Amino acid sequence: MALKKEAIGKKIGPITKEYTWRDVVLYALGVGAGFDELDYVYEKDLKVIPSFSIAAIFDFLSHVGAESNVNLAGLLHGEQELIFHNPIPTEGKFVTTGRITNYYDLGEKKGALIIGKGVTRDAKGKKLFTNIMTLFGRKDGGFGGEAPPKKPVEIPEREPDFVVEEQPSKNQPLVYRLSGDIFQLHVDPEFAKMSGFEMPIMHGLCTLGFACRACISSLCPGQPEKVRRFKCRFSKTLYPGQPIKILIWKTADGEAVWRVVNTQTNDTVIDQGLFVYGDTPVEMEPEVLYNGRVAIVTGAGGGLGRAYALELAKRGCKVVVNDLGGSRDGSGGGDATPAQKVVDEIKAFGGEAVANYDNVATVEGGANIVKTAVDNFGKVDILINNAGILRDKSFIKMEPENWQAVLGVHLNGAYNVTKPAFAIMKENGFGRIVMTTSAAGIYGNFGQTNYSAAKMGLVGMMNTIKLEGGKYNIKANTVAPLAASRLTEDVLPPDLFEKSSPAFVAPLVLYLCSDQCQESGRIYNAGMGFFNRAALVTGPGVVLTSQGEFPEPDDIKANLAKVEKLAPGKEYWELNAQVGDALMAFSAPPPQAAAAADAGPSVGDFFNEMEAHFVPEAAAGVDVVFQYNISGSGGGSWYAIVKDQTCKVAKGQHEKPTTTIDMAAPDFMAMMKKQITPMNAYTSGKLKISGDLMKSQLIEKLFKE
Ligand code: NAI
Repeated sequence: MALKKEAIGKKIGPITKEYTWRDVVLYALGVGAGFDELDYVYEKDLKVIPSFSIAAIFDFLSHVGAESNVNLAGLLHGEQELIFHNPIPTEGKFVTTGRITNYYDLGEKKGALIIGKGVTRDAKGKKLFTNIMTLFGRKDGGFGGEAPPKKPVEIPEREPDFVVEEQPSKNQPLVYRLSGDIFQLHVDPEFAKMSGFEMPIMHGLCTLGFACRACISSLCPGQPEKVRRFKCRFSKTLYPGQPIKILIWKTADGEAVWRVVNTQTNDTVIDQGLFVYGDTPVEMEPEVLYNGRVAIVTGAGGGLGRAYALELAKRGCKVVVNDLGGSRDGSGGGDATPAQKVVDEIKAFGGEAVANYDNVATVEGGANIVKTAVDNFGKVDILINNAGILRDKSFIKMEPENWQAVLGVHLNGAYNVTKPAFAIMKENGFGRIVMTTSAAGIYGNFGQTNYSAAKMGLVGMMNTIKLEGGKYNIKANTVAPLAASRLTEDVLPPDLFEKSSPAFVAPLVLYLCSDQCQESGRIYNAGMGFFNRAALVTGPGVVLTSQGEFPEPDDIKANLAKVEKLAPGKEYWELNAQVGDALMAFSAPPPQAAAAADAGPSVGDFFNEMEAHFVPEAAAGVDVVFQYNISGSGGGSWYAIVKDQTCKVAKGQHEKPTTTIDMAAPDFMAMMKKQITPMNAYTSGKLKISGDLMKSQLIEKLFKE
């Protein structure tokens, strides 16, 4: 078992969590609040202890653990940092997305650090807090990775300015766990013994909650919304009922450092604590940066292209600003001014850019644009095919020259620049390509057959580039913008025109150009701050022949509803997948044959009987899908859907399992026969769990012998 390298940078989430005032109060009780701090426990004028955030997004932590493939037998929560951007509402929804940002190697005997970073927003997208967690994988060191940067928090030698004494109760973890962390280690005496502890231990994050309360009451009493940053390192186990002292040193205006000490043993249980508070939010470096990257933006002398070029350059990207400086319908050209002006703007704020005046509609023009990037900046990483013209006419009046001119700039233009750029990206193992389509192409627009055809042609081109570029880390996506520009000044109604600054489209395009973007083959609409995805969805279809005889048009007419049905719709990544499904439609086994194939020697029996062992009383509020993948002879895949206190077991792969369990058939049977315990199987690597790790702990409860 080793840390999974590919997991770095892969998006985790969105993980959503709805909560009410009851959850806020339950958390406060779990971290020791009571009558002395009524604001935290009484729904009237309720205030949220900011560290509630971590308990409420506990699922993110399990995802980081599972995605990294850390050896769970050696897993500890090492460090925790929370940065608060806005006060946490007393009820609502947390939407968390994040990623594993890094692994650090402490050495073979010492272990590894896994860094996960998540940003949590409310249901409307308002950024609430950033959560940076360090997991300590005691058994994963020695993989040859870099050592962690050392940024210790300096604790002064002098006596602390505040000492807050607390007495967590003997039952503290029993209350705290109801806020999300139901790991057995904090409740099950046998499990705790098996893991090498005398008894269930306190959750480190529960002690952290005590510390958060203590820092607030000492430094900004009654104003939890002032907490800006809260950070610490977990250093020693604490047992429930052991008294603690939170020692706090004020180090600067709005800043303090802290540690938690076990009063009985004098051991430091949480160290390196930092507490920042006040009215000014902590400044965060943007995650999406382009340092060292080189971009080409075609048609960047004005409108959307200019916005992309400026924003990329502001974030450290070197930009080739291409524009031939023609008129809106593509006539004229050869005017260097628009591109040069944008370059001047970029240089004025210290960015790097070079102008290019070539025509994308010619093969030579495309080659020269790419050459400009290579000659000036040594490579091309990012290409935004944005240049465009309009020659609108109803189809009946569409002359060949207007048809060809529009296809020439949009579709051929994208080919002319992308081909030489793709070769360089392939060589360098990195590329981000953005095509510019239009709602006119995706949905149709009167008077724009030439434009619609060209714009949908770009979608087709992307569909295949995404496949050919995939293994070279070249991602291709398409954006359908809506923006105020000279192309739309007489098309958009004035009030819409005013609301549609190109600056609203740029963030999406910039994300699609970033290292972080892992999406490929997507189409997005963007305008006025509204974003959504458009996709080609294919319906399940129907077979209208049984012995190979040709159906009649009448058969089509009679079955049109089935042919047309789109649900359940499927998006295909490539042609073969769709053809595969069409073939599968002919070869679906008759139900009886399928049942016979299921009947594995013994693993199958277990799943056949699984529903009978289900305990509905234990499943109140549970909504999970367990996917079992049992390898080897007699194995197979089964899934169990537990919802509304019912259980449905079926053979095969569920599309969206909550928790996936992988085991070899003999190990699985040994576990079923109680020859090995689940914990044993888990720590010895025989039982692998991915997805929501914590939910796997429900299995024992939900199914009785
Ligand atoms: P714009 O007219 O301000 O920008 C297009 C730029 O492309 C111009 O500066 C023009 O000089 C340049 N250009 C034209 N032909 C060229 C060629 N052969 N070689 C090099 N440069 C050339 O228009 P806007 O709105 O910024 O359009 C950008 C892209 O977005 C276009 O592809 C357009 O079709 C697309 N689009 C725009 C929408 C909008 O609402 N503004 C809606 C849907 C798509």
